Amino acid sequence: MSVASPINLILLSLFAVLLYFHFRPRQPVSLPSGPPPAVFRIYTPTKLLEFNGQGDRSVYLAVRGRVFDVTPGKNFYGPGGPYENFAGRDASRGLANQSFDEDMLTKDLSGPLDDLKDLDQDQLENLQSWEERFSEKYLVVGKLVAEGDPEAPAS
Ligand code: HEM
Repeated sequence: MSVASPINLILLSLFAVLLYFHFRPRQPVSLPSGPPPAVFRIYTPTKLLEFNGQGDRSVYLAVRGRVFDVTPGKNFYGPGGPYENFAGRDASRGLANQSFDEDMLTKDLSGPLDDLKDLDQDQLENLQSWEERFSEKYLVVGKLVAEGDPEAPAS
C-alpha cells in the first residue's frame, strides 16, 4: 500500500486542521482596567468639592481632616443618594449629629475648618464610631486643610 493512500491523506489533512486550530493566532486577552491607584494628597475644601461624584467622578468626603474615598458607596453619597450632601465636603459635624442637613456643612469653603470644639461627649462618640466604620470600609486618600494653610498646595 502506498504512503499516499486515501486514508493517509485524510488523516494528514485532519492532523493539519488540528494543528491549525491549536496554533492559530488568538485575540489578545484584555483585562478590564482597574481604578487609578490612589495617591495621598492634601485637599482644601474647595478642591475636595470637585470630588462630589458628579458625572463619573469619584466621591470623597472628609472626617476630622481625613479624606476618604467613598466611591464604592456612590449609591449613598453620589448624586441622588440619601447622603449626597456629604459628597465632596467635610462630613464631621453631620456625622456627629446624625444629620445630613445642609446646616451641618461648613458654609465658607475658604474659611477655617470646623474645629468641632462645641461637640459634647455623645456627639464625639458618634463621630468616632462613624470614623471607625469608614476606616474599615474605605481608603484614606488625603488630608483636609484650610485654604491658606502652609500645607495647602499652591492653586
Ligand atoms: C430615616 C433614618 C435612616 C435610615 C432608614 C437609614 C438607613 C441606612 C441604611 C439602610 C444604611 C446602609 C447600611 C449598610 O448597608 O451598611 C445606612 C448607612 C448610612 N447612613 Fe443612614 N439611615 C438613616 C438616617 C441616617 C442619618 C440621619 C444619617 C446622618 C449622619 C445617616 C448616615 C448614614 C451613613 C453615613 C451611612 C453609611 C454609608 C456607608 O457605609 O458608606 N443615616 N443608612
